[in-house]
Amino acid sequence: MSLSQLARSICESPTLKMNETAALLRDRGEPVIHLGGGEPKSKTPIDAIVSCAGLLNTGDIKYAPADGLPTLKKAIIRYTEEHYHKIVSADNVIASNGAKQAIMVALHAILDPKDEVVFPVPYWVSYPEMVKLAGGVPVPVRAEDGTFCPSIEEIAEAIGSYTKAVIINSPNNPSGVMYSRDFIAEMVRLCEKKSLYLIMDDTYNRLLFDNRAPINCYEYITDHTESSKLILINCVSKMYAMTGFRIGWAIANKQLVRAMANIQSQQTSGPATPSQWAAIGALNGVQAHIENLRMTLENNRNVMVDRLNAFDGVRVVKPDGTFYCFPDFTSYEPDSNKLAGFLLEKVRVVTVPGRDFGMEGHLRLSYSGTIKDITEGIERIKWAIDPNAPNELYLGDRKLVRDWL
Ligand SMILES: Cc1ncc(COP(=O)(O)O)c(C=O)c1O
Repeated sequence: MSLSQLARSICESPTLKMNETAALLRDRGEPVIHLGGGEPKSKTPIDAIVSCAGLLNTGDIKYAPADGLPTLKKAIIRYTEEHYHKIVSADNVIASNGAKQAIMVALHAILDPKDEVVFPVPYWVSYPEMVKLAGGVPVPVRAEDGTFCPSIEEIAEAIGSYTKAVIINSPNNPSGVMYSRDFIAEMVRLCEKKSLYLIMDDTYNRLLFDNRAPINCYEYITDHTESSKLILINCVSKMYAMTGFRIGWAIANKQLVRAMANIQSQQTSGPATPSQWAAIGALNGVQAHIENLRMTLENNRNVMVDRLNAFDGVRVVKPDGTFYCFPDFTSYEPDSNKLAGFLLEKVRVVTVPGRDFGMEGHLRLSYSGTIKDITEGIERIKWAIDPNAPNELYLGDRKLVRDWL
């Protein structure tokens, strides 16, 4: 079969693939524990359901404007004012099919062939593939000291004459690490100085732990005009546990938003109207959901980190936010693909290989599930890889006997 060069260069999303594998195994009655998930377990806020149902009950479900319904834009403007103290107009806002499409249309709107996009390692799996889809060249930047945070100097070194944009995601998927206030401030200044687009992916910035407050990138911009190249990305997906609705948005200068809307209008048209009304309900409704979710995740993080700390040889950095943890299993198995496959095969625990996030030897473990899943999942991993663990393990009434190590 003849496929385009582009199609051949794009990898399947490893996280979505893991979801499918877990679902297939579960359907076969396998006792799978899914620590690979990228979504909270909580239910959609009731205000979102009521708002969505209100539209569905009319039976009048039609196309929306390509850049989103005016009522949703109003809710996003209000959200931006409340959480970023930034006044924007409707022409600065585009609502998309998830943060994913908001980033994708932004990249399509700013990249010419071979333009480079710089982002720190570890990175969200989709950044390199999205940059390639838009014709650009991904430039991941690794911290030489092996930490999850490259220095501003390391980022600056990766910037060359082809660089068009930088993407920063804080707190970070997969590490859970929040970049420092100084780092964000310097990043904003660096991008302004070099006239680069800065895509701030704030998808997780309400899900922070240990009394951390979100960092507002607008505090550091000096260009408050319509030439600003800051692109702020947000979505209802994670903070309201509404991943299935597929609503995200971008805030950017008017010219760029118009270009993004043109692209989106030819790609998908505006997001589905029931989903937009659900997002309106969530944004305008009672906000207790976010704090409840955040507290649950903080507790889950504590449980996961405590369990991981009990592993000899596993290095874990305590996440500042998100629902991911990114421990280093190199001392057990440096090949993260092999390790993830082994854990799935032997003890039915789903994890995501660190290689997909640009860091070999690590696994991304999600603590978005139940405490039972977290504790049992880590126990199974420990049993599978710790040579000092007992020889047998029961998964329900199934007895596993270690025939490896
Ligand atoms: C860092 C980051 N940005 C964006 C997204 C996409 O979010 P959405 O589901 O709204 O498309 C994700 C989803 O996993 C993510 O982890």
